[in-house]
Amino acid sequence: MIVITGGCGFIGGHLADALGQVRVIDVKKGYLSPEAEFVRCDVRKKGVIDACRGADTIYHFAADPDVKVSIRSPMNTFETNTAATINLLEAARLNSSKFIFASTSTIYGEAEPPTSEDSPALPISPYGASKAACDAFISAYSHTYGIDAVSCVYGNIFGPRSDHGVVFDFYNKLMKNPDEMEILGNGKQKKSYLYISDAISATLLVADRAKGYNKYNIASEGWTTVNEIAEVVSDELGLSPKFTYTGGERGWVGDVPKFRLDISKLKSLGWKQETPVEDGIRKYVQWLKSRR
Ligand SMILES: NC(=O)c1ccc[n+]([C@@H]2O[C@H](COP(=O)([O-])OP(=O)(O)OC[C@H]3O[C@@H](n4cnc5c(N)ncnc54)[C@H](O)[C@@H]3O)[C@@H](O)[C@H]2O)c1
Repeated sequence: MIVITGGCGFIGGHLADALGQVRVIDVKKGYLSPEAEFVRCDVRKKGVIDACRGADTIYHFAADPDVKVSIRSPMNTFETNTAATINLLEAARLNSSKFIFASTSTIYGEAEPPTSEDSPALPISPYGASKAACDAFISAYSHTYGIDAVSCVYGNIFGPRSDHGVVFDFYNKLMKNPDEMEILGNGKQKKSYLYISDAISATLLVADRAKGYNKYNIASEGWTTVNEIAEVVSDELGLSPKFTYTGGERGWVGDVPKFRLDISKLKSLGWKQETPVEDGIRKYVQWLKSRR
């Protein structure tokens, strides 16, 4: 039996679609994959350990993924992201489950690009720190209790059903004002993005190869600037807005303005990106339009 925490969320929901009959554990029922069983449970509560009974594999994807929230309330982020992960690791220990975790590029902070999995964790936001601490606990549980585990270190993942991130933000801004759009920072921020279907294929591949503890960067090879994203979203909507900038090299406090993940370890497993980032942005914008 496969458990997906956060399985009603964006990545967890797509994972559930790909895996079919799974048990989804989530605090709220958003999207529910057609074949999934839903268990309402807060991962911060010890009851989640019981909810995982019989799990061969636990995909732990529930979290508060918002960097800005983590800056306002680091303790909440610690409780939801880090302390809760220890509950799920306990469940994995009791059930001898494989453990697949949604980590993030923000663990590396402002590391020199391209950043490999061997780079030290030097996060610059409480969110990044909360996830780096999880990776450390997962490594410790794997070594101490013999759990096969993977930290999936995602770049920026985007696509249908995501309700956050830069593409979503630009789309909504342009729906409100098609003539002018404010861009946070100077627009020159450059980051690694990946379309959701590619993120799922990579996740399933690394999960399949889990042995001992491993970390895999999951992103596209290149990087994309915020200005490029603004151009593609506008173009897909048939608009030519004037861009204005809040200025500065970061979009917000805790934003890492430049990151590019080294994905050679993932590629060495035979993984290939199927959807170029620009095509993915266009597909996602089409999907957002279709829902209006
Ligand atoms: N989307 C990205 O670009 C990205 C990048 C790096 C890492 N991640 C990580 O991937 C995971 C999924 O991200 P997402 O973008 O799908 O986010 P999301 O917000 O769409 O999904 C998170 C899910 O977790 C659930 N959840 C939150 N708190 C919970 C709690 N206390 N108990 C039970 N369920 C709870 C939410 O209800 C939601 O359904 C997160 O761990 C996130 O940190 C995402």
